[in-house]
Amino acid sequence: MKKLAVVGSINMDIVTRVERFPKPGETLTGVSFSTIPGGKGANQAVALGRLGMPVRMAGGVGDDAFGETYLRNFRENGVDTALVRVFSGMTTGTASIEVNAQGENHIIVVPAANGACDMAWLEETLPALEDCDIFLLQHEIPLPVVFEAIRRLHAMGKTVILDPAPAAPVPEEVLAMVDYITPNETELRAITSAMGEDADAPARVRRLLDLGVGCVINKSGGNGAYVAARGAAVEHVPGFAVKVVDTTAAGDTFNAGFAAGLALDLPLLEAVRVGHAAAALSVTAFGAQGGMPRREQLLTLLGEEWRARLSL
Ligand code: RIB
Repeated sequence: MKKLAVVGSINMDIVTRVERFPKPGETLTGVSFSTIPGGKGANQAVALGRLGMPVRMAGGVGDDAFGETYLRNFRENGVDTALVRVFSGMTTGTASIEVNAQGENHIIVVPAANGACDMAWLEETLPALEDCDIFLLQHEIPLPVVFEAIRRLHAMGKTVILDPAPAAPVPEEVLAMVDYITPNETELRAITSAMGEDADAPARVRRLLDLGVGCVINKSGGNGAYVAARGAAVEHVPGFAVKVVDTTAAGDTFNAGFAAGLALDLPLLEAVRVGHAAAALSVTAFGAQGGMPRREQLLTLLGEEWRARLSL
């Protein structure tokens, strides 16, 4: 089995459930309030850990109560925390999240310790990850650091999976070094913003492949994903119909399931299917990590015939 690492953000999510989102200037009464672990990078690591996949997390927390809670959360979910730096005098990243009755969300992130994951941090961290094969990155630590990590990992011959979230442009020379990119519609537009406003999704995907991206997985929520690999026809891989409670971290959980599939040497479209199954289960419970499945739950949704393919 290939070894997995996540290089990315760690946030404590401060979540208020509401019947509906407030309008500007409006005060509403919420349904509940919770403080729960999140962050796009950490969510991907925890989702992998829940599936029983050995995974290393590289990121940063503050030396505050949220940081301590988070380190415990990683350990409880089987995530190796040796490369989670505790930045003294800093607070842990936070995300203020509102979730409405339909399970949709609004998110405001304050990077805090995530912002301290700078070039010097990367310089010290990457050599310790040399034994890992597949790397998951996102856009929630400083973008120049994400892009430099991709350049360095590519030069080291590693497999790079980039979840370009939150949406932001990515330099074309960096895109050329990405093996798998997993944008939703908004993120696809952002990473191909050089094409202007008018280009449609298929043209944007083609552009990414022409630049050198190995495979584009255009996530489309409950509708599944469109998978375009270089030299192959575009395939639609449908998602699973489930009762949605909270969509927070569905994309993160997809990436984790997909990466688990790759680490287990599944064919591309089967790895995407595993991503969908993990994401579908994740939205059936409250909180970024509340619904992330264990392997047995995944098998219940995928079917017993997947057991051998998903064994470690
Ligand atoms: O992708 C979901 C995550 O985005 C949340 O957990 C929140 O921390 C934000 O980073």
